[in-house]
Amino acid sequence: MPGVLPEGEPVPADGSLPATATRAVGARGFGVYVHVPFCASRCGYCDFNTYTADELGGGASREGYADTVLAELALAARVLGDAPPPRVDTVFVGGGTPTLLPADDLARILDGIDRTWGLAADAEVTTEANPESVTPESLKTLRAAGYTRISLGMQSAAPGVLAILDRRHRAGRATEAAREARDAGFDHVNLDLIYGTPGESADDFAASLAQVVAAGVDHVSAYALIVEDGTRLAARMRRGELPYPSDDVAADRYLAAESALDAAGFSWYEVSNWARTPAGRCRHNLLYWNGGDWWGLGPGAHSHVGGVRWWNVKHPAAYAKRLAAGESPGLAREVLTPDEAHTEDVMLRLRLASGLPLAVLADAGRAGARRALADGLLDPAGYAAGRAVLTLRGRLLADAVVRDLLP
Ligand SMILES: C[S@@+](CC[C@H](N)C(=O)[O-])C[C@H]1O[C@@H](n2cnc3c(N)ncnc32)[C@H](O)[C@@H]1O
Ligand code: SF4
Repeated sequence: MPGVLPEGEPVPADGSLPATATRAVGARGFGVYVHVPFCASRCGYCDFNTYTADELGGGASREGYADTVLAELALAARVLGDAPPPRVDTVFVGGGTPTLLPADDLARILDGIDRTWGLAADAEVTTEANPESVTPESLKTLRAAGYTRISLGMQSAAPGVLAILDRRHRAGRATEAAREARDAGFDHVNLDLIYGTPGESADDFAASLAQVVAAGVDHVSAYALIVEDGTRLAARMRRGELPYPSDDVAADRYLAAESALDAAGFSWYEVSNWARTPAGRCRHNLLYWNGGDWWGLGPGAHSHVGGVRWWNVKHPAAYAKRLAAGESPGLAREVLTPDEAHTEDVMLRLRLASGLPLAVLADAGRAGARRALADGLLDPAGYAAGRAVLTLRGRLLADAVVRDLLP
């Protein structure tokens, strides 16, 4: 949930959607995202829409937050009233730090979603969690409430790297929390890593990967550090206190991740995501990447229903105020043009191991695919089967391949 929202046309006060959008809600799956915009402190690299207690000001509080989200859920039920989704396939509670809310509040929000639309019997229900903000007890409460998956922000095993990233947890706490989650009955546990942080050595990252593998989790996400404008980290780099990340180092780290995770039995299924088994893949993210419908609850949350995309007001106080007045918290929306929808489809599906059907490409894109194949960026077997599937080298250059596949 990045901090900067795009522009668009206004959302009606009652949140209503064009009839064209609600005609086949959930045809490609239906998910619910819940944004929890609170953090104990802000990590220097992060530009997500999240607030510390000091930054929050009046008009919004962690205490009242679950009820505010439930008020948006009631509005969502009214908007989709005549065209409810068949069922909720996935729920993803992200942040911010969802686990700063009491586990009972997270349980209440999930119960509200179930009562509103009904959770599928095999629904995937994830919450993100910061390692220092869960306990064996809170994890047991979440599991009993119906959460099926925990995603922990580990970032690194190296104390020096955690310090540069301003993380609050000590080295070792993330893998400990992952074991606590497994003991609480979670079969699906993810650890997030960030690589390429200034000061991180190849050995530091190798140690992070070794710890992740030893923790027995079934999913790993690894992201190159992005230096976001306006963050403390960006300011430190501008002042020369820290070096900017290097693309060559990031590529080396990516290859190290692929090699260690592959050796440990993980397979990539999206450029930055690996799972031990198909059942371990994050179905909620797959729903985003495959163009499914989802309702995003919370300040700054984005939603997508039937080709209409909208996003909520950003500040928790403005969000609560709109809902208290019985109004949609939607700030603006847009209907994707066919060209925009095509660009998005290529960008998202090319990053998947399942690849992109060559048939969706225009002539210029097919010519680009032939060049990428000749350059070793697309897999010959996938291509022969009619799909654009990135090779390992192609994964390192995914953005360039996307550009080549677009008109
Ligand atoms: C926004 S956080 C929310 C979860 C939780 N608060 C945490 O920090 O673990 C989700 C993940 O996004 C990734 N992330 C956030 N900002 C990033 C950045 N500037 N560069 C790379 N990864 C980033 C981190 O790996 C993080 O675990
Ligand atoms: S804890 Fe997570 S969401 Fe909060 S500031 Fe740090 S990276 Fe961002």
